[in-house]
Amino acid sequence: MFEKEVYIKRRSELKRALGRGVAVFFGNHEVAINYPSNTYRFRQDSSFLYYFGIDRPGLVGVIDVDKDNDFVFGDDIDDEDVIWMGDIGTIYDEALKSGLCCIKPLSEMYGYFRDVIKSKREVMFLPQYRFKNMIVIEEVLGIKPQTVNGYASLKLIRAVAEQRLKKSEEEIEQIKKAINISKGMYEIAFDKVREGITESQLLAECEAYAIENGVWLSFPTILTKRGDILHNTRHDGVLNRGDLVVMDSGVETELHYASDITRTIPVGNMSRLQKDIYDIVDSAQRSAIAKAKEGVRFLDVHLESARVIAEGMKGLGFFRGSIDGIVESGAYAVVYLHGVGHPLGLDVHDLEGLGEDYVGYSDSIKRSNKFGLRYLRFAKQLKEGYVMTVEPGIYFISALIEKWHNHQRFSDFVDYDALKGMIGFGGIRLEDDVLIKREGAEVLSKDVRRF
Ligand code: GLY
Ligand code: MN
Ligand code: MN
Repeated sequence: MFEKEVYIKRRSELKRALGRGVAVFFGNHEVAINYPSNTYRFRQDSSFLYYFGIDRPGLVGVIDVDKDNDFVFGDDIDDEDVIWMGDIGTIYDEALKSGLCCIKPLSEMYGYFRDVIKSKREVMFLPQYRFKNMIVIEEVLGIKPQTVNGYASLKLIRAVAEQRLKKSEEEIEQIKKAINISKGMYEIAFDKVREGITESQLLAECEAYAIENGVWLSFPTILTKRGDILHNTRHDGVLNRGDLVVMDSGVETELHYASDITRTIPVGNMSRLQKDIYDIVDSAQRSAIAKAKEGVRFLDVHLESARVIAEGMKGLGFFRGSIDGIVESGAYAVVYLHGVGHPLGLDVHDLEGLGEDYVGYSDSIKRSNKFGLRYLRFAKQLKEGYVMTVEPGIYFISALIEKWHNHQRFSDFVDYDALKGMIGFGGIRLEDDVLIKREGAEVLSKDVRRF
């Protein structure tokens, strides 16, 4: 945990932003894989971690703004559990480290919320993504699980997002720590990649480094020569000379701050065509990073990367017509369909669980329905202290090329015959993590090896 002052300050700021009511944060529970005592690795909810820092299952955190009182509901493990789990200490000890003065048994939670509701005070909670907590909410607030997220508090979402998006120095240190372990993983990936090695062997070498360093992954590693499958988590390929390996991976520190980095690594030398396309992605990423700073809309950072990709791909004969036309129409998305990046922090896609449209968009900037922009996770103005990924890519996706060709989509701009010749090429993505500042963006992952 951070120093207790960090959590006290975070909760005070939230109370100031909310003004009144009661904010409740439902911590996570153990989740069974195939029978109750065989569980997935426990991962605490990120907002719970942010305000309370206590990394154990079965807790509910309360920030009672009206009474200026913060506490946690939870039960210590019993004597029998100690046999299996060891002496993990008391919740109270951890609560003290979080600057809380008291904990309450879970049995008191129902009465507490009954009283809050009776006194007509507002109870605010965030959108839920685990069924167990939806059931807890039904028990304490009487809201049906299927409708829980319709009752999530917009005011709380906005306040939490605003706070969590802006990273403090100690949070940036954590992200740098995660990036530094990623750096070691990518050194191994570049050193060990060779003809004949399987994707899973290379993966094992890289992930071993994370485990040796006492951390775990922030999401399942993508390591594949099929870079055209964007979130391909299979590792059953054998690497051959001439393949391009897309490795998109991250780790999270003990305090659960993440890194998220992508490198494209050739097996042997790159061909001329591979290098040409690689260079376009590289330029798109550099131009996008150069544009990113406080006050700039992330949408414009995305469009900058799209412009460079449109120009480069036009230069290679895949697009035709005006660059403005290719970008404005969204034709570029036939090869670059995802957004340029997302916030990074306690979640890899930071705050995504609160709703991208609330976190990454605003009243003045609404999500576009255009194919290339639909997947842009964050579009609004950047502020100093945000940590964002910048991760453009070029992909030759057979199903997409075929579909667009059949519908003659943007055929003024796209040379489908040329694109069809690229099916089987795979994809190229480069991803770095940047800290937004007033005058520009600092690349936190600049020391991570790249081709
Ligand atoms: N790791 C998925 C992403 O880069 O967003
Ligand atoms: Mn990634
Ligand atoms: Mn990412």
